[in-house]
Amino acid sequence: MAARRPLIAGNWKMNGLKLDGLTLAQAVAQDVGKPGAVGCELLVCPPATLVMTIAHVLVGSSVGLGGQDCHAKVSGAHTGDISAAMLRDAGAAYVIVGHSERRTDHGESDAQVLAKAQAAQAAGLTAIICIGETEAQYVAGQTLDVLSRQIAGSVPDGAKAAATVVAYEPVWAIGTGRTPTNDEIAAAHAHIRKELAKRTADAAAVRLLYGGSVKPSNAAEILRLPDVDGALVGGASLIAADFAAIARSCP
Ligand code: 13P
Repeated sequence: MAARRPLIAGNWKMNGLKLDGLTLAQAVAQDVGKPGAVGCELLVCPPATLVMTIAHVLVGSSVGLGGQDCHAKVSGAHTGDISAAMLRDAGAAYVIVGHSERRTDHGESDAQVLAKAQAAQAAGLTAIICIGETEAQYVAGQTLDVLSRQIAGSVPDGAKAAATVVAYEPVWAIGTGRTPTNDEIAAAHAHIRKELAKRTADAAAVRLLYGGSVKPSNAAEILRLPDVDGALVGGASLIAADFAAIARSCP
């Protein structure tokens, strides 16, 4: 099996003014972000307003930087939007696309998420493509079908592992303190990898993250599941000590 270096990514969402973001990034950088401090790769995804500022704080640390969304176009008349090239220019190496909050709040379709992932990769960013079922779909037993559909619709054909991460985030597990069982997480990740193999020869090397109520108390058991190559962490990534504890839980 291809070696996949675990990735622990913090999605700060719409949280943090300048001082909060700087303090948090500094705390992460000086703890688990010291080169060699942990075996996994670390990433923080602050609000767009803080990307450039935080890039400076992270110089010399092993913490990477990502955006939370990008536009599918390179430039143009798209007021309020940010292109992948702009994020790269500001110091980001990654960008989250298709987060369920974007899919819900902004009505983003699989086709739009695909276009964003392609734009991100064309700009030299690694796209973290988010997928996951709603609570109604989970209760109806449709989880694997939903994941198949979202992968078919939003993962670029022939995606390269170096530029592609897939995050499985059950919508009902985000910010709720609820998580699927370990068996359900493992089954979903195995299914995602199988479906990815239909889109790319690199499927065995693509990192798959679990996201949804990951915290220090459940990180170790989730991170050791087969086909789970890291975590996309929301709320707990806003607390430096919790994010560090999750990073230290990496097998
Ligand atoms: P929580 O960790 O707060 O559940 O959020 C998960 C998430 O949406 C990360 O993208």
